Amino acid sequence: MAQTPQQPKPTTAQDHIDAMLHENRVIPPSDAFRARAKVSREDYERMYRQSLDDPDGFWSGVAGELHWMKDWDQVLDWQLPHAQWFVGGQTNVAYNALDRNVQRGYGDKRAIVWEGEDGEVRTYTYAELLREVCKAANALEELGVVAGDRVTLYLPLIPEAAIAMLACARIGAAHSVVFGGFSVAALADRINNAQSKLLITADAGYRRGKPVTLKVNADEAAKLAPSLEKILVVKRTGTPVDWWTEGRDLWWHDVVDRQSDQHEAAALDSEQPLFLLYTSGSTGTPKGVVHTTGGYMVGTYLTTKTVFDLQDDDVYWCTADVGWVTGHSYSVYGPLLNAATVVMYEGAPNHPDWGRFWDIIQRHKVTILYTAPTAIRAFMQHGEEIPGRYDLSSLRLLGSVGEPINPEAWMWYWRVIGGERCPVVDTWWQTETGSIMLTTLPGAHPSKPGSAGVPMFGIEPTLMTHEGDELGPGDGGLLVIKRPWPSMLRTVYGDDERYRKSYWGEIGGVYFAGDGARRDSDGYYTIVGRVDDVLNVSGHRLGTMEIESALVSHPDVSEAAVVGRPDPVKGEAVVAFVLLQDGHSADPADLRRHVSREIGALARPDAIIIAEALPKTRSGKIMRRFLRQIAAGNEITGDTSTLEDPAVLDKLASTPAV
Ligand code: WT7
Repeated sequence: MAQTPQQPKPTTAQDHIDAMLHENRVIPPSDAFRARAKVSREDYERMYRQSLDDPDGFWSGVAGELHWMKDWDQVLDWQLPHAQWFVGGQTNVAYNALDRNVQRGYGDKRAIVWEGEDGEVRTYTYAELLREVCKAANALEELGVVAGDRVTLYLPLIPEAAIAMLACARIGAAHSVVFGGFSVAALADRINNAQSKLLITADAGYRRGKPVTLKVNADEAAKLAPSLEKILVVKRTGTPVDWWTEGRDLWWHDVVDRQSDQHEAAALDSEQPLFLLYTSGSTGTPKGVVHTTGGYMVGTYLTTKTVFDLQDDDVYWCTADVGWVTGHSYSVYGPLLNAATVVMYEGAPNHPDWGRFWDIIQRHKVTILYTAPTAIRAFMQHGEEIPGRYDLSSLRLLGSVGEPINPEAWMWYWRVIGGERCPVVDTWWQTETGSIMLTTLPGAHPSKPGSAGVPMFGIEPTLMTHEGDELGPGDGGLLVIKRPWPSMLRTVYGDDERYRKSYWGEIGGVYFAGDGARRDSDGYYTIVGRVDDVLNVSGHRLGTMEIESALVSHPDVSEAAVVGRPDPVKGEAVVAFVLLQDGHSADPADLRRHVSREIGALARPDAIIIAEALPKTRSGKIMRRFLRQIAAGNEITGDTSTLEDPAVLDKLASTPAV
């Protein structure tokens, strides 16, 4: 039966905020869910109180559930803004995710059920995954990788991505995963910043039926990245690889397959870097967020267990790519530390059609689904008949992450996908926080659509003004965290000053998240969105400045200003105001191509407005507030008297986008 897509009506940012703030539905978990849940309301209250009143006791208890080669001497050493957790302790995240689980009797349990976009399915039990990771760890050692090195990964979502991450963790090398959608330039920048000697990539990965040739990009990036000595290449698609540099390029199957499947996990200092992950800030180039071993392990272990209420028979699927922090914490480390069965899917949600996710859930009997609002809104747009064709009765819990979820999308997810039976957890956190900070626990708290919820154990958030004054319930303000937590970032790689300034210097003494939020009288936080110049496009974080730099590096462009515009599916769309060099004309397609080349297709502007002038103050500062209003098609409000030439605004507002 043909169906008409239901086009969500465009909303303004204000509509969206109003909808969230006037939302007052409260949806409690069912009695059946509550009866089996790991954490009850009383448990949460008691544990949360202990986590704040006796953090040493609380975190020792959690860490003690995992294996340590040497016990820690001190739980926390906090010298603002630097925290060390489980000081003096030695452990290994891969050992805890694999060896420990095999020893606990999970050897034959499925660890990873991977599905390629082309339909290939590969399954690894915990014992098999351990053997593969041991082989890969031995291979890394043969290639000269030692503890403390950085290894860059540029891979599709294939089992080797998780295997390579765990192999690095096993020997104490920090991985730096670069999302496969990032461009040559972005990849090269990240390799250079990390000074990686080894890059692990694949010939290609499938995306919407076509191979995306990663090796070609890797070769181009290698020309710009002198630190690289070797490139290890997984054969995923069999796509011909044009270039092969003898001595530098090695096939994964040649090097890894012949290794011993025995490897002793290194006893690593709790503060040994586990990974770097680059993310966008409001200024400058992307920051290499540094996470370390012990605290990250404890944080992801605890949150995965409690937020997803993991039971031994769950089949857990987090749809995030390993290129993002969600893929690190909740596709790999958190669930494997909990001996969960993890589903991984390589490809696009709409290949071969918009039923693919529901087909995967039906065939693999997925019980827990964790995905992003942008995906939910895209599914919504294609109508509920599509999921209606599949048996989704295995599902018992749903999660959302990455951006604010509008109440309509929340309700659709709960009703159509969850059959009004599955609690929905809306989890707020960041690359920097390492693990979930605000959420409801599914058996403990009722959900309020559009509102993330309450703090996780050990997390002490509040709302403040820019001046550092604390706000009460009902007020909107800046979301801050008042004390350190185990999985927090430790620094920005190679730039500790930036770490101090961006996160702990904005408002003295507290962690500044970059988000605005409100808190209701039940203590539930509703995230309103970023308050800095960071965009969230389809759950992907982009700095406006990065896109502006990409645009001005084009020969036709003299100046650019980028803002976000509310978008019914993507959350935010990229709108670029561009000034041309004298005598040049604009080729919008070329400008978009250029941004794709500089950053990646995810940053490509949705609308370009060729401008003659930008709204600037007399001191030359661009007033983005007005650009956002123009981009959204809203009336221009606010004081325009500080502008050098207020007439610029009307002119821009009447210029059609290209
Ligand atoms: C930013 C962090 C968390 C992993 C994926 C994104 C936004 C994230 C939520 C949520 C409202 C959210 C925030 C945050 N965000 N989750 N549940 N509700 N906003 O990680 O790329 O580091 O982005 O994503 O604005 O600051 P990230």
